[in-house]
Amino acid sequence: MPDNPTPESAATELMVPRSAGSDLTDAEIAERVDALLAEMTVAEKAGQVTQYFYFNLPPSEEIEATLNTDFSRQPAMVETALSEGKVGSLLFVTDPAEVNRLQRLAVEGNRHGIPVLFGFDVIHGLRTIMPVPIAMAASWDPTVIEQGQTVAAREARAVGIHWAFAPMIDIARDPRWGRIIEGAGEDPYLGSAVAVAQVRGFQGEALGATDRIIAGPKHFAGYGAALGGRDYDEVNLSDYELWNVYLPPFKAVVDAGAGNIMTAYMDLNGIPATGNQWLFTEVLRQTWGFEGFVVSDANAVHNLATHGFAADLTDAGARAIKVGIDLEMAITDPAYAHLPEAVEAGLVDEQTIDASVRRVLAAKIKMGLFDEPYVDEDRAREVLADPSHRRVARTAAQRSAVLLRNEADLLPLTTPSSIAVIGPLADSRRDTIGPWVFDYDSSETVTILQGIRERAGQDVKITFAPGIRPAQRTFASMFDMWGDNAPEDPVDFDDTAKLEEAISSAREADVAVVVLGEWQNMIGEAASRSSMELPGEQLALLQAVAATGTPIVLLVMNGRPLDLRWAADNIPAILDIWYPGTQGGAAVADLLFGDVAPGGKLPFSWPRTIGQIPMIYSHTISHEPDNQGRRYWDEESTPLFPFGHGLSYGRFEYTDLAMDRERIQAGDTVTVSVTVANVGERAGDEVAQLYIHQRYGSASRPVRELKGFQRITLAAGESQTLRFPLGPDELRYWNAATKDWVIDTTTIDVFVGGDSNAAQTVSFDIGS
Ligand code: BGC
Repeated sequence: MPDNPTPESAATELMVPRSAGSDLTDAEIAERVDALLAEMTVAEKAGQVTQYFYFNLPPSEEIEATLNTDFSRQPAMVETALSEGKVGSLLFVTDPAEVNRLQRLAVEGNRHGIPVLFGFDVIHGLRTIMPVPIAMAASWDPTVIEQGQTVAAREARAVGIHWAFAPMIDIARDPRWGRIIEGAGEDPYLGSAVAVAQVRGFQGEALGATDRIIAGPKHFAGYGAALGGRDYDEVNLSDYELWNVYLPPFKAVVDAGAGNIMTAYMDLNGIPATGNQWLFTEVLRQTWGFEGFVVSDANAVHNLATHGFAADLTDAGARAIKVGIDLEMAITDPAYAHLPEAVEAGLVDEQTIDASVRRVLAAKIKMGLFDEPYVDEDRAREVLADPSHRRVARTAAQRSAVLLRNEADLLPLTTPSSIAVIGPLADSRRDTIGPWVFDYDSSETVTILQGIRERAGQDVKITFAPGIRPAQRTFASMFDMWGDNAPEDPVDFDDTAKLEEAISSAREADVAVVVLGEWQNMIGEAASRSSMELPGEQLALLQAVAATGTPIVLLVMNGRPLDLRWAADNIPAILDIWYPGTQGGAAVADLLFGDVAPGGKLPFSWPRTIGQIPMIYSHTISHEPDNQGRRYWDEESTPLFPFGHGLSYGRFEYTDLAMDRERIQAGDTVTVSVTVANVGERAGDEVAQLYIHQRYGSASRPVRELKGFQRITLAAGESQTLRFPLGPDELRYWNAATKDWVIDTTTIDVFVGGDSNAAQTVSFDIGS
């Protein structure tokens, strides 16, 4: 296990050389693209705008039926298309030798020698797995988020991948939707900061930088608001919500220079997102000036016909390319293969196709593919083995954990002589790293049990008891095609004996560390849920262990909020560790034993029960605001833990909240300052958060909105004064009455503190 790193040491190690990529100017790139285009037939152009999955998986009838795809036909079909010059890009190839083999087929297969662009879902690491994205967001630490994706990019580039289908920047306000785990939660301000940090990590200074890849933020737009939280289902969002909540992270990544954007699967306000002229032409290109290329989500162009929007595949292809979907991601039967027919039928003109081909070819030139289409297999092995990557993963896991509760300072643990580690997730390598990973090396994963064992040393007696068998999904996940994705249901498991073993291990220990949550195949894509309960017998296990009277530290492995009402009343210490990645167990042990202090904060409001969903902190004020917490007669209508909540081993006080001016004109910036002191007995991390509320104006505005945050580390007794600028970007909002962005003449209340209930307040006026 590597030494415990500091964020600074991890950052220094990651200083990778940065280069400007292709040396060509934009004009030279355009000239080169034009020269190629002039020689290409419509069929060749259609090939350049087609991207295929390349799956080399053992066929599984169940999955094939679910996805309506014949995987056994897939590799041969793609290889034929490659050797005929009919493929612009491939996804899902991660073995450098395979990358080279397939690239050779492509380069030799078309008369222009155009290489293919390799894309992949590099979501939270390739070989070195970082904590899942919602966990990274919970760090509220753009530096560590950028470092994480820098490592991911370096590993991906080394194996021959040029482009990540990440970050996922969909705002998610309904935790029934499994993909909440892939994003940054409910808030557009935090979401934008996290999105931009990831784009910087993937791309570096400029497209084509050494060891970097193209970032592909997704899914444009509104995907997180699926009806009922059911993945892929329709979305209906007002312009007000789109502009103020769902679109800002996308605007932020366009401004940050993201090279690619991916479409979304579902219908947005009655029009499939992938065929949506308003989204892709008017907003993305015309209003925001996006210059990169757009890819469809998997089969989403094809789906325009499935949705009952396009008449057939020819119509689907013509309509998608006309709205600006440059590349079609296809499993089989791409609609873009029908583009030549569409041109013949007059459904689309060739210039429209040229515009998309231009963008795809420009990306290939910028990434240096024409200069070096192949990858160095030896170097790939070296890069993947780089121990500095593991150190970044450990820091990231430390910084993303959220201490939800810590009664009587049970944490950090002070010299227990025995610890009972309990729960089936505690020693599960696969679950420790979470969903959306395929190229990990399982033997490198440090489970919670392993991490505790190694940190505690010989003198502490550690026992392990799973207590219960893993719970199972009612319906299988499509990701279960990858061997170890679903937890094994052990055959010789004596439920009564195993529960008894867990109880007696707790009884005999000084402290019990119970690890509960969702198995990783229960969260992510196609993992929507109708309940928030701990799956299986986990609550019963927790209650049985608690009945022994041994103090319990509950570690929660999750990517969405779960029903922790009983735990929040009865368990003294609760640490949300998410799916903490390759170094998860080591990082968790660092936190439990106080080698580092937790400092993450929740990136979503944590509801008490499923019936409260959607529950957001930034609701508007309505009739009887004093009764906001009693809207239901059977349950409080406040969250169990508020947005931004998270404790540390220090204790923080906020004083001297002040502003440099009491009145500004629209367009000016005011600076807010506050002093944060650690009045506790141990060092700790705090994320100071600034929220605003507009008292009146041409629209009613949310009771609070996050507009600034800073994560700091303070020794016991130390204090620091922080400054937050509030300018036009923070004060303007999209107004449904004027259908435009406005800054009102008004009074703004400012709140600063450690969560979204921050109490310290000042105000200032905006004059006309
Ligand atoms: C997901 C995308 C992903 C793509 C390729 C789709 O099902 O929605 O987010 O990038 O598959 O794996």
